[in-house]
Amino acid sequence: MQLQQTEHGSLSRPRSRQIYADSCAVIPGGVNSPARSFAKLGLTPMIVASGMGDLILDVDGNEYIDFCCSWGSLIFGHAHPQIVQAAVQQMQFGSSFGIATEVELQIARQVVQLIPSIEKIRFVNSGTEATMTAMRLARGYTGRPKILKFTGHYHGHSDSLLIQAGSGVASLNPLATSKGVTPNTIADTLCCPFNDFAALRAFFSSPEAKLLAAVILEPVTGNMGVVPPEPLFLQMLQQETKRVGALLIFDEVITGFRLGITGAQGLYGITPDLTCLGKIIGGGFPVAAIGGRRDILDCLAPLGHVYQAGTLSGNPVAMQAGLKTLELLQQPGVYEEIERKAKRLADPIEAALRDKNGCIQRVGSMLNLFFGVKSVRKREDLAQLDEAMFAKLFNYLFDRGIYISPSAYESWFISHVHLDSHIDYAVDSILSFIRGM
Ligand SMILES: Cc1ncc(COP(=O)(O)O)c(C=O)c1O
Repeated sequence: MQLQQTEHGSLSRPRSRQIYADSCAVIPGGVNSPARSFAKLGLTPMIVASGMGDLILDVDGNEYIDFCCSWGSLIFGHAHPQIVQAAVQQMQFGSSFGIATEVELQIARQVVQLIPSIEKIRFVNSGTEATMTAMRLARGYTGRPKILKFTGHYHGHSDSLLIQAGSGVASLNPLATSKGVTPNTIADTLCCPFNDFAALRAFFSSPEAKLLAAVILEPVTGNMGVVPPEPLFLQMLQQETKRVGALLIFDEVITGFRLGITGAQGLYGITPDLTCLGKIIGGGFPVAAIGGRRDILDCLAPLGHVYQAGTLSGNPVAMQAGLKTLELLQQPGVYEEIERKAKRLADPIEAALRDKNGCIQRVGSMLNLFFGVKSVRKREDLAQLDEAMFAKLFNYLFDRGIYISPSAYESWFISHVHLDSHIDYAVDSILSFIRGM
């Protein structure tokens, strides 16, 4: 690692600062997705010039070990030679046709073969599109209006999913987390705390359960930090949705192909009706998908009357990158190696946090640190979350050439290409931060 230190020990980023300031004049907040602005961290974001393996380089020449990995998309790190080759090769023959290509069949067959609950699959461009389509499909299939989601679970930014619980379980009275969402839309999305058996039982015995089209959830949550499901919580959801005639939708945009080749559903032995995929399935390109039972997927146009479309859906460059990624993931020992690296990072930190006011939670290669709480099972457990301490940690690591996901509510991601020496450097840095807490 070659770090450009200033006298104050922090990395110098004059060019990043300039580009960010110029961007603010023409792009709202200077960024094309809010978390990139580092607004809550009191920092000017770095502007990235390139990435290779587990490293990114900013426009000022500073290197960072990347533990965000494009929010979990890059399970083989940056610019993996075989993924690059697959994409470049396709580009030489044309990058978009707006018409079917053979590679779409190849990757569809591959996913159907790998994930037993997926009998058919439709490719889209973003996780937001996948979950939005899943909502429409569930409503079209069941003829019912309501969706149940869980507080702290993020499913992209379509109107009906930008909703959290407001006054809690008892009233099931959700509030939109964005202006511009109409009261009618809000009324059709219900919220429960995650891992709360009593709240779920109460909901499923209420009259609203009969109006339910679907329950959507992140089976392992990555958007309120990493929160696994309680034993039997997913089983209960499966039983109850089936009993009331609603669909169970797993949003595996993060967990799909990360928690093993069959995702969270394989890990926990649950068969959802629909699955949303994203991130890893595009090998670093904008790809997502909705898959599931044949009778439900066949409700999509042109076979059925639930409309969904996309100019760039199934884009062949992105499909080739995704297909190559799935091929690489099936090589022997890949997931074991990623898990080994994740443990190498997490285990010493877990030990160091035992007698501190904080904890680390990890499932496979998803993990993060929480300050101010000792255990997180649901979003409501984060009332005392110490975001200021997280911002301090982020700053501390950032100045040492370590880039973690820039939010106290987000997972960090380990890739197959993280070097042991880089992980050890990150562990040493985090331990020294914890000692100084
Ligand atoms: C679980 C989950 N679902 C959906 C999305 C939305 O995906 P996208 O950002 O590709 O629209 C995200 C994004 O991070 C996510 O984490």
